Amino acid sequence: MRSQPFTYELPLSGGLPSVWDSHTTRRLSSMKGQYLDQAAYETMLAREDTLLYEVYEIKRPEAAGELLQGISFIHPGKVGDEYFMTKGHFHQILDTGEVYYCLSGQGLMVTETPEGDTQVLEFRPGRVLYVLPRWAHRSVNTSPTEDLVFYFVYPANAGHDYGTIEQKGFRKLVVERDGQPTVIDNPRWKPG
Ligand SMILES: [Fe+2]
Repeated sequence: MRSQPFTYELPLSGGLPSVWDSHTTRRLSSMKGQYLDQAAYETMLAREDTLLYEVYEIKRPEAAGELLQGISFIHPGKVGDEYFMTKGHFHQILDTGEVYYCLSGQGLMVTETPEGDTQVLEFRPGRVLYVLPRWAHRSVNTSPTEDLVFYFVYPANAGHDYGTIEQKGFRKLVVERDGQPTVIDNPRWKPG
């Protein structure tokens, strides 16, 4: 791991960063129960365990004061009417925020607090999205053809709570209606 201040390049065209230490891939099988159209999910999974998104990270100690950084590529596609998206999470240390910088593509970020406030932010190339502490976040690629690519930075000790979202889902979903990305209430959202 680097022990001196360092630099690296993020192509504004949305290509790979000039350095990275880890490459994580998320496939359809890791999203069980997350998509509204379960039948479409099962049909698609039976055909292929499709690659949904990839994350390249710069390795840092998971210690207070450090910042974790990386780039995510969310590939285009849908499960039924619902766009490819990240798993979404709260931070384990709930009071930690995150900065996103959109490099290319288009999409929406769905956010919510444990108390039920919701907010949907739009990704656009060149736009910064700031996720406040306490807000769960999920990124959704609404382009039919292009990757959604963004850079992220967050406190290295924040950790991830994926379980809450896996159990309850987000209160809002992003689906295609009449060819347009549309935010709907999640009919399967459950408070328990
Ligand atoms: Fe996060």
